[in-house]
Amino acid sequence: MPGITGPSDYSTEPTRHSSLQINSKEPFNAEPPCSALISTYLTPADLFYKRNHGPIPIVDDIEKYSVSISGLIENTKQVFMKDIRMLPKYNVTATLQCAGNRRTAMSKIKTVKGVGWGVSAIANAVWGGAKLSDVLELVGIAKLTSTAKFGGKHVEFVSIDQCKEENGGPYKASIPLSQATNPEADVLLAYEMNGEPLNRDHGYPLRVIVPGVIGARSVKWLEVINIIAEECQGFFVQKDYKMFPPSVNWENINWSSRRPQMDFPIQVNISGYAASGGGRGIERVDVSVDGGKTWMEASRFQKSGIPYIADDCNKSDKWAWVLFEVTTEIQHNTEIIAKAVDSAGNVQPEKVENIWNLRGILNTSWHRIQVQVTDSNF
Ligand code: MTE
Repeated sequence: MPGITGPSDYSTEPTRHSSLQINSKEPFNAEPPCSALISTYLTPADLFYKRNHGPIPIVDDIEKYSVSISGLIENTKQVFMKDIRMLPKYNVTATLQCAGNRRTAMSKIKTVKGVGWGVSAIANAVWGGAKLSDVLELVGIAKLTSTAKFGGKHVEFVSIDQCKEENGGPYKASIPLSQATNPEADVLLAYEMNGEPLNRDHGYPLRVIVPGVIGARSVKWLEVINIIAEECQGFFVQKDYKMFPPSVNWENINWSSRRPQMDFPIQVNISGYAASGGGRGIERVDVSVDGGKTWMEASRFQKSGIPYIADDCNKSDKWAWVLFEVTTEIQHNTEIIAKAVDSAGNVQPEKVENIWNLRGILNTSWHRIQVQVTDSNF
C-alpha cells in the first residue's frame, strides 16, 4: 500500500529507552522496570511496554497513507489521515495489557509457550483519535449495529507488519460489530498517545485501541478494516490468545473448542496497579502483610476529581488502571499479598497453580512478594 511499508528484517528499528528489559530482540518485546509503572498515572511512551510480532513498519509518505474499509459493505472506501482528523476527536484514558503479562510466573509452575513477561506488560495512556463508530458511519454502518445490511457481524483490523506466525503475512484481529459501533465502548482509531503523535513502536500513524480488552485486539499500523460475517480467522484470534483448562496440553489441544479471549480479567500488583477489563471499576484492593491471615484495605490514588466509572469517556477513567498504596509496618520476614475486587464482585484467584494454562496467559492470581527484613531496611 502506498505511504507505509512493513520491512522484512530488523535493520530499521527505532531507538528505545535504555531501562527497558528486553524479553526478545527480534521481534522487539520489552517492558519497563515495575517502579516506572507506578511512578506516574500516565505511562510515558518510551517506557510503555512494547509487544511486536514482526519488524516495525515505516511510514514513507503520510499524505498517501490511507486505511481501506472493505468487505461486506456497498463500496470499498479509502480513508486518509485528513478524513480521520476531520471526525470528532476523543481522548480516552485506557490501560493496555498483554494477555501474557506475568507469564514468567506461570512458567515456574510448568513450562508454558510464549515470550516471558514479568509484571510490566501493562501500562496506561491517554489515546487521542476518532471513534470507530464514527468511522464506520462513513461506509453506511449506523451506530449500535450488531448485523449490518450485507451480513457483517465482526470488524477485522489488518496491519502491514510481517509476522512469522502468519507465514510472513500481517497481524490481524477482530471485534464484534456491536462493540465497534457502540460509541460507549470507546473503540478508537488513535493517532495520538499522551498528547503526542503515536511513535513507530506504538503504531504510527494509526492504531486501534479497544479499551478493557486484551492488548492483542488493539491492532497497530492499521492498513485495512474488513466488515466480515465470522470473527477473524487469523492466527492471533484462532490459535493464540485463548485460555484453556490445565488438562489441555500440546497433544490434545483443540483450538476451536474455546472462544478468543477478549476482556482482560481483574488483577493487582503490590503498591501497585489494579485493573479490570470491560470497563469494570476497582471496588477495593486488599493487602496482607502476614501471608493472607489478615487484610487491610489499600487507599487508591488517581487523577483527582475524575470518577472511575461514568458514561462519558472524556470525563471518566473507567478504561484506566487505578494505582493503590498502603503504608504499614513489617517487622520480620514475611509474604506481602495484594488482591483486588472489581465492581462486579470478581475477586482474583488465590493460586497460579489453579489457573495454569499452556499458553501462559491471564495470570491474575494474587500477587505475592517475599520480603526479607534486614537491619539495612530500617
Ligand atoms: N498490532 C500489530 N500490527 N502487530 C503486533 O504484533 N501486537 C498486539 C497489539 N497489536 C501487535 C499489534 C499485542 S499482543 C499487544 S499486547 C499490543 O499490540 C501491544 O501494544 P504496544 O506495543 O503499543 O504496547
